[in-house]
Amino acid sequence: MFVCLGNICRSPTAEGVFRGLAAQAGLDVVIGSSGTSGWHNGDLPDGRAMAEANVRGYDLSAQRSSLLKAQDFYEFDLILCMDNSNIENSEAIRPAGAKATVKLFLDYAPDQPLREVPDPYYEHNFEAVFDLIEDAARGLIAELS
Ligand code: 4NP
Repeated sequence: MFVCLGNICRSPTAEGVFRGLAAQAGLDVVIGSSGTSGWHNGDLPDGRAMAEANVRGYDLSAQRSSLLKAQDFYEFDLILCMDNSNIENSEAIRPAGAKATVKLFLDYAPDQPLREVPDPYYEHNFEAVFDLIEDAARGLIAELS
């Protein structure tokens, strides 16, 4: 489960990129994304993310924004956050005893200088965000394979 704040920019990008690369790798894995805010529930990913996805051969058009739920801590093994505030907000709704691991997605991109994925909603840096996310998605696939 990929998590960011709005679930319209970073985590839908991570979901779509990871879906594409996991399918190519033949991995059978349950994939989702959500936000900690709920501000954009039901919305399509940001048009700028969808456009950059198309350039790179990914399709985000079936995804809709949703809120991270307590139940997700039972249904997913890994809750992969784009930044540290997402980790704090996720841990705040962890049900007692639920064992899902919550960590930064960029833990799977150890050669990158950044540890958090910057928010392109304000910074408009979608290409750089896709580069980071593709690197981490490849690292995650290597570990799961
Ligand atoms: P995301 O980006 O967390 O990567 O989806 C944002 C999207 C929307 C807002 C903030 C961040 N917002 O303030 O509405």
